[in-house]
Amino acid sequence: MELIDVIKARRSVRRFRQKKIEDNMIREIIEFGNLAPSAGNLQPRDFVVVKEPDTKKKLARAALDQDFVAEAPVVVVVCANLRRCAPYGTRGRELYCIQDSAAAIENMLLAIVDKGLACCWVGAFDENAVSGILDMPQHIRPMALLPIGYSEVKTGFASRIDLDELIHHERW
Ligand SMILES: Cc1cc2nc3c(=O)[nH]c(=O)nc-3n(C[C@H](O)[C@H](O)[C@H](O)COP(=O)(O)O)c2cc1C
Repeated sequence: MELIDVIKARRSVRRFRQKKIEDNMIREIIEFGNLAPSAGNLQPRDFVVVKEPDTKKKLARAALDQDFVAEAPVVVVVCANLRRCAPYGTRGRELYCIQDSAAAIENMLLAIVDKGLACCWVGAFDENAVSGILDMPQHIRPMALLPIGYSEVKTGFASRIDLDELIHHERW
């Protein structure tokens, strides 16, 4: 698929088939994630791959009972690594590592679509609960849960705000 078609085809999918995903596919998706840019190329993002059903259920509970998280065969938790972005001080901790993680997440979402898989970016969760479930050290902040699987549904396009409302010419 052309990149432009992948961007257009991406949807948030919240129902998955119970079909296994090969480990090397997940590895490649993460590889595409880490090809995203990062401030000073510090790559302050880490990835926790969760397949264990009990752990996925705990993650779904921590994500305010979004049960579909547990239904995906694999959940990748994308984390910001606050230690790796320390050279940039407060701006590194409070801005760059979040942007760097978000850039990786979007690359991953596109790679997922390209491989015929589906996902939903899940950001609504109790951070302390997720950190506890996955034994994360203090300097690791979970940014997103990415439940990945083969789609069970055909999801419609979520409409977008008219571009004329969003684009400002020359000044605000
Ligand atoms: C930062 C962020 C957090 C999100 N958190 C959730 C979430 O917790 N649960 C959920 O079902 N969708 C979540 N979404 C998905 C959005 O609801 C979805 O992207 C939006 O409705 C547009 O639909 P589309 O992705 O199909 O284009 C999140 C998306 C982003 C970017």
